[in-house]
Amino acid sequence: MTSEIFDVAVIGAGPGGYVAAIRCAQLGLNTVCVDEWKNARGKASLGGTCLNVGCIPSKALLESSENYFQIKHKFAAHGIAAEGVAVDVPVMVARKDKIVTTFTAGIASLFKKNKVKSLHGRGTLLSQDASTEIWQIAVNDNGTTETIHAKHVIIATGSVPRSLPLAPFDNERILDNAGALALTVVPERLGVIGAGVIGLEMGSVWRRLGAEVTILEAMPGFLMAADEQVAKEAKSVFAKEPGLQIHTGINIKSVKTSATSVVVQYSDANNQEQVLEVDKLIVAIGRIPNTTGLGVSESALVLDERGFVVVDEFCRTNLSQVYAVGDVVRGPMLAHKASEEGVAVAEMIKRIESGEPAETEAIDFNTIPWVIYTAPEIAWVGKNEQELKAAGIAYKSGQFPFIANGRARAIGETSGFIKVLADEKTDRVLGVHMIGPHVSELISEAVMAMKFSASSEDIACIVHAHPSLSEAFHEAALGVDKRALHI
Ligand code: FAD
Ligand code: NAI
Repeated sequence: MTSEIFDVAVIGAGPGGYVAAIRCAQLGLNTVCVDEWKNARGKASLGGTCLNVGCIPSKALLESSENYFQIKHKFAAHGIAAEGVAVDVPVMVARKDKIVTTFTAGIASLFKKNKVKSLHGRGTLLSQDASTEIWQIAVNDNGTTETIHAKHVIIATGSVPRSLPLAPFDNERILDNAGALALTVVPERLGVIGAGVIGLEMGSVWRRLGAEVTILEAMPGFLMAADEQVAKEAKSVFAKEPGLQIHTGINIKSVKTSATSVVVQYSDANNQEQVLEVDKLIVAIGRIPNTTGLGVSESALVLDERGFVVVDEFCRTNLSQVYAVGDVVRGPMLAHKASEEGVAVAEMIKRIESGEPAETEAIDFNTIPWVIYTAPEIAWVGKNEQELKAAGIAYKSGQFPFIANGRARAIGETSGFIKVLADEKTDRVLGVHMIGPHVSELISEAVMAMKFSASSEDIACIVHAHPSLSEAFHEAALGVDKRALHI
């Protein structure tokens, strides 16, 4: 037991927790961060899901596999002949692992630099001393327990993959995200259950490397969270990809594994029984909040019916001086949302400690961007057309296709479009929807426009470099008032 009383104890060192810890320390708060993650070699590794088995490794493999796909299928159009091109999956995976270890070690350095104390182990919230208002947290590492004390606690314990009861993960044949990122051989036949973000990204990686990929999705539609027109375009582009099949409206009946394959029985959208036999099966049907061992009952922390820690708009839980951020609370399960909440809570704690009012502006989820790193990429911010219609909001729309954009033509990636939705009366931008090359980067301009309450005319007034992909955003904004120039 240490007698030190920290200003803040953060439980979890994913993008919610480690960013919160660094910001707390920057603000002069004495901060400890407790994290239990161990990598495949059994070593403590900071960064949570995002750095270890999420955002970073998936993007590393997406980049490698896209390079291979480009050389194999697209370079000929540029007049570049490449013979004997081969994939070395272990090298690809080792490159991905090196990126991960560089970044996870980078967080350890950032903790050191900012004087955040880093403890390895599982943090369990115990109780708050009624007179001193100090929280007790047990930190258990391999059977050794240490008790730490802190005035404020930030829970940032993230999420874990949701398993399908019919197909529990074994990471041999039935893979979660970690298993899907660790394959060392390209499976000939890959099945994916769930056409969500992970299913599409991981399916893309292994398809580009040569797997025959079949994605089975329960919902009748495709990418139902996206703007309908974007989802339609995505489905039509993906349908033309060699080696990819997406079946929606399916119902999984049974999943059987053998030493050599996985057999999935399902009924299709027409209620016909179907059988899919694959070498590996990725199950990516969403993620669930992680509160295992957190001390929910010991501390009387309130969870909702789906297991999320209940918080208000300022990330305050039901417990005094205990906050929760990131995937373990409501809202999109995105790294940048987790980090934004982490910073907001750190700054609120500083205000509380300084005797200032705790509350300022709450985080606006409407200006949090979404990106799906398929090819073409998909990105959006704000409301889509179906949401505006459902809410009865009158809007104008401007759209520009990449096929009419000079830079997209030069790159050779002409699928997709950018659409700007603006309020019918005020012209304020309500949503921007993109599918096409590098829209993961282009979306930031739309986020900034919305954050600054820009009108479509404001965007139309900004000079965009020529030739650039960003001109498609400019033209889409011009299109809101029917004055696009190149279409
Ligand atoms: P996490 O990153 O899950 O971190 C929680 C940490 O807390 C973990 O280290 C865990 O071990 C630790 N922990 C849990 N309980 C305890 C305890 N009791 N004591 C101590 N430690 C504990 N998001 C994006 O924005 N962009 C992307 O491109 C993207 N790609 C993704 C790809 C994949 C394959 C996956 C699975 C996710 C992806 N995400 C992406 C989502 C993103 O990873 C999460 O939204 C983000 O990691 C959430 O951050 P967090 O800090 O809330 O939780
Ligand atoms: P998801 O919620 O994106 O998609 C899950 C899909 O599985 C849905 O389409 C759902 O209808 C389907 N599904 C659910 N049960 C099913 C069943 N029994 N049979 C068939 N289909 C079923 O969840 P996913 O892909 O697991 O990702 C989890 C979260 O991780 C994402 O929502 C996102 O927040 C985050 N993430 C973000 C990324 C990014 O920002 N680029 C990349 C990867 C993950």
